[in-house]
Amino acid sequence: MKKLLTIALIVCMASIFAANAEAADAQGKKIGIAMPTQSSQRWIQDGANVKSQLEALGYAVDLQYAEDDVQAQVSQLENMITSGAQCLVVAAIDSNALVNVLAQAKRNNIPVIAYDRLLMDTDAVSYYATFDNRGVGIEIGTWVEEKMKLKEGAGPFNIEFFAGSPDDNNAHLFNAGVFEVLQPYIDKGQLVCQSGQTDFTQTAILRWSQEAAQQRMENLLSGYYSSGKNLDIALSMFDGFSYGIAAALEGAGYKVGTKWPVITGQDAELMACKNILSGRQSQSIYKDTRVLAQKCVLMVNAVLTGSKPEINDTTTYNNNVLVVPSYLCTPVSVDGGNLEEILVGGGYYTKEELGF
Ligand code: BGC
Repeated sequence: MKKLLTIALIVCMASIFAANAEAADAQGKKIGIAMPTQSSQRWIQDGANVKSQLEALGYAVDLQYAEDDVQAQVSQLENMITSGAQCLVVAAIDSNALVNVLAQAKRNNIPVIAYDRLLMDTDAVSYYATFDNRGVGIEIGTWVEEKMKLKEGAGPFNIEFFAGSPDDNNAHLFNAGVFEVLQPYIDKGQLVCQSGQTDFTQTAILRWSQEAAQQRMENLLSGYYSSGKNLDIALSMFDGFSYGIAAALEGAGYKVGTKWPVITGQDAELMACKNILSGRQSQSIYKDTRVLAQKCVLMVNAVLTGSKPEINDTTTYNNNVLVVPSYLCTPVSVDGGNLEEILVGGGYYTKEELGF
């Protein structure tokens, strides 16, 4: 009995020692977080979640937003390096534009974690925390397939595509996932793209701009839908686009409830969710940024303590220099049918926020 108690005491002291050691390791260490923009809700939440979780471990955090200005993000990273950051967490604006500044981080032995967006063309990245990006596209495509009963042969429906920023590696994967599901229905004539613009080079919208999406929708409506043809599906790959698309549709005389197209989205922003409840938008992709932040924080801890973080993908994310070990979180499609259960049930939004 005495022996057992002694062992229990040793185990207990060892874990207290380990916890203290982790806190002591973190104490005073500065982490730089570079986020792209505060113009969309998700990045504000991402920044706040990573910051608070790192601070809870005892790290000092320098959180910067570059408001979609590539050069500003480079400068912010340079400042973080010269002011003594010991690790960098980077959600790039332009995934290809940070090669030099990341090389500078590497020369200074500062490990880098890619956050949500892959950092391309560099060997200066240790780990990547993101969502299953191709999976996001597959979720959106599958939602359209089910909603429009395409498997059952329904159609033809008119569809237009709004894809993400070409300098964001994620955008290519979202698009690939969407077409993996929907291309067969285009080939069979159940989905018809009146503009003929299905190629990523034609549908990609630089810097994920809501205004550019609205402009594109306006141009498509006047160019291809002015002679009585109705748009049935606006396949948007970002909630910000969906707001612009809805505004353009209204401007062209479409009314929610009567021949209003199905509009998809991504991020389950609060406004998008309210729009889903009112019928202005139809679907979005919920990405729990609390979980993503948690995976990223484990990576920061690991690179600073020489341990191994949790990884679930070692094959997908080749950045042209190396395959970056990654953790992929799971995206979830939400619509009017499951929104309350998933988002309120999961503690992401309250009923009051959603206006229930
Ligand atoms: C993110 C999406 C987001 C988009 C626009 C992408 O890199 O993965 O969640 O909607 O950027 O901000």
